[in-house]
Amino acid sequence: MRQAGRYLPEYRALKATSSFLEMVRTPELAAEVTLQPLRRFALDAAIIFSDILVIPEALGQGYKFREAGGIAMDYRLESRNQLERLDPAGVQYRLAYVGQALERVKAALKGEQALLGFGGSPWTLGTYMLEGGSADEFERSKAVFYSDRDFFNRLMEKLTAALIEYFLMQIRAGADAIQIFDSWGGIVAGQDYEAASLRWIREIIRALPQGFPVILYAKGTPSQLTDQAFTGASVLGVDWTVDLGVVRRLVPGNVALQGNLDPVLMNTTPEIVRHETNRLLETMRGARGHIFNLGHGIMPQAKIECVEALVQAVTTWR
Ligand code: CP3
Repeated sequence: MRQAGRYLPEYRALKATSSFLEMVRTPELAAEVTLQPLRRFALDAAIIFSDILVIPEALGQGYKFREAGGIAMDYRLESRNQLERLDPAGVQYRLAYVGQALERVKAALKGEQALLGFGGSPWTLGTYMLEGGSADEFERSKAVFYSDRDFFNRLMEKLTAALIEYFLMQIRAGADAIQIFDSWGGIVAGQDYEAASLRWIREIIRALPQGFPVILYAKGTPSQLTDQAFTGASVLGVDWTVDLGVVRRLVPGNVALQGNLDPVLMNTTPEIVRHETNRLLETMRGARGHIFNLGHGIMPQAKIECVEALVQAVTTWR
């Protein structure tokens, strides 16, 4: 849940006349929302406005937002029949609107900022599909993983195939890098992270053009970072709970790190943001390959003056 725009009045203005899903599915609107933060702030990259759940939807399991917050899938994935009906073939055509949005943004950026495509990891997408939406304890996803590995693997294979086709389409449409969000990687038992999530991510990265930049962000997985570094990902995104300086010493130098300021700081004051940004930059002084970013998505309560202070601190840091 990057939830980019919600702190920006220009996003809320668009949202007043179009729903989130309309904006996602309309290339003009998706491109516009993608570009909004770049008009305000001196950012180095844009991430395409979309959602990870467009993949389950393209396979045949749609979604909407619950009134009370969170995601509701149209149904919960339970039977073999439902599983077999999920169809990864031709996902690139069903999601052509994402490619069209990327092409528009790419042209508007004129090569001055990088453009990120993205998708969810098979495991993270699978949790929404198996739970029927947002979940607290992920009991059903884990039950399927532990009690019916065959069913679980079949679902992961379908998602992996769909994601490979989807990412290749995004690359053709102009994405300079792909970010994979394993937002729920951290809820898996450490010893099972490989079988539940990482092996599918590795398979996806292997299927992309050799050396194409992939940013792997797996929230809440500090003990998996070294294994993640050997998936072929060029960059590891890191959440705010780990000390980035420590991670830099653990992870091989050919893998860059992205992160990891606590997003909640954007709801405080510019003074605090400046101070904490400089502290993080100082921690990484001399370390190669640091992409400054928040450690997770920005919140709707974020203050614009705090984002300004962050960008100012990063771009003037020596
Ligand atoms: O920054 C961006 O806007 C980039 C686009 C983006 C969105 N979602 C737009 C969005 C990206 C990269 C995502 C990823 C995403 N979506 C993830 C993984 C990323 C992460 O941060 O871990 C997940 C788990 C989702 C699924 C999702 N979409 C959730 C759980 C929610 C919140 C639902 C709620 O409770 O309101 C969303 C909504 C969503 N996705 C919004 C945006 C801008 C907010 C829509 C709105 O209310 O305007």
